[in-house]
Amino acid sequence: MKTFIETLPKAELHLHIEGSLEPELLFKLAKRNNISLKYKNVEELKKAYNFDSLQDFLDIYYQGAGVLLHENDFYDLTWAYLEKCAEQNVTHTEIMFDPQTHTERGVQFDAIVSGIYRATQDAEKKWGITSFLIMSFLRHLSEEDAFKTLEQSKMCREKIKAVGLDSSEKGNPPSKFKNVFKAAVEMGYIPLAHAGEEGDADYIWEALDILNIVRIDHGNNALQDPKLIEEIINRDIALTVCPLSNTALQVVKDLKDHPLKKMMDLGLKVTINSDDPAYFGGQVNKNYEDIQKALNLTKEDIYQLVKNSFNYSLLKDTEKAERIAQLAELYAQMS
Ligand code: ADE
Ligand code: ZN
Repeated sequence: MKTFIETLPKAELHLHIEGSLEPELLFKLAKRNNISLKYKNVEELKKAYNFDSLQDFLDIYYQGAGVLLHENDFYDLTWAYLEKCAEQNVTHTEIMFDPQTHTERGVQFDAIVSGIYRATQDAEKKWGITSFLIMSFLRHLSEEDAFKTLEQSKMCREKIKAVGLDSSEKGNPPSKFKNVFKAAVEMGYIPLAHAGEEGDADYIWEALDILNIVRIDHGNNALQDPKLIEEIINRDIALTVCPLSNTALQVVKDLKDHPLKKMMDLGLKVTINSDDPAYFGGQVNKNYEDIQKALNLTKEDIYQLVKNSFNYSLLKDTEKAERIAQLAELYAQMS
């Protein structure tokens, strides 16, 4: 099964580039940028990666991102992630980044986007891996702040495909960002959002009906509401599920209790993703492997999940069809 998972080409649709910052690179960038850390070494830092909630994680995650200052730092961060994609047969990525985490420290908006984008272009040349960028607004900040970010993004408009919504969910419902999402859609960005990770099903309703999102990040709490499940299925919208994130942040107690298979059986379209792999104990293939073991998923289930990763990506329909045809051929040979 491990070889089966490793061999299939797959897309990753829910990945925060700041969350891919491994401790070793974090220390290297801190040294390069003369930033002092409150942890003495990698081992001490890793000990702090023990979270009891989303907020608990975010506090450390934003501190870690503080070592990113220059275009080259964003390049090195993204390149390190894309090297892992190449090793894992991830052939398409949709990478989220949080500009406000950096611009509020004085980092230039175009340094962030140029660094990430340049690495994705180099990875496409070297390995054929394609990538899209998703600019995520921090929901604990104001809508006015998100508008400033949207304005800044104009200088990099053609490098960014979609907008997202992340950070502390509870108390920051999607409706808070109604106007900025409307403006983003008018600029041609595709609307996406985290919803139902810690927030209740009504946050997912708002993300669908007020922000008009076309894909739900996490969405676990959709299971609270049968009408919502029906609506998500009718709209043919996918959930980007992140198993190891869910256990690390105690959204789910144990992988054996994870609702992924139940979601699939209900007819929901689900994909598997790593969210913040440097913090949650595994890249995307480990997410597939661990959830497969915990829920006893079949090869057919895995194939369906991988197929969904292309089908619910932001690739053009012709491109999706090509990737899925290649995948189907490989699957036929392997089963
Ligand atoms: N930012 C990075 N990871 C996140 C997550 N899992 N939920 C919300 N915001 C995030
Ligand atoms: Zn996320």
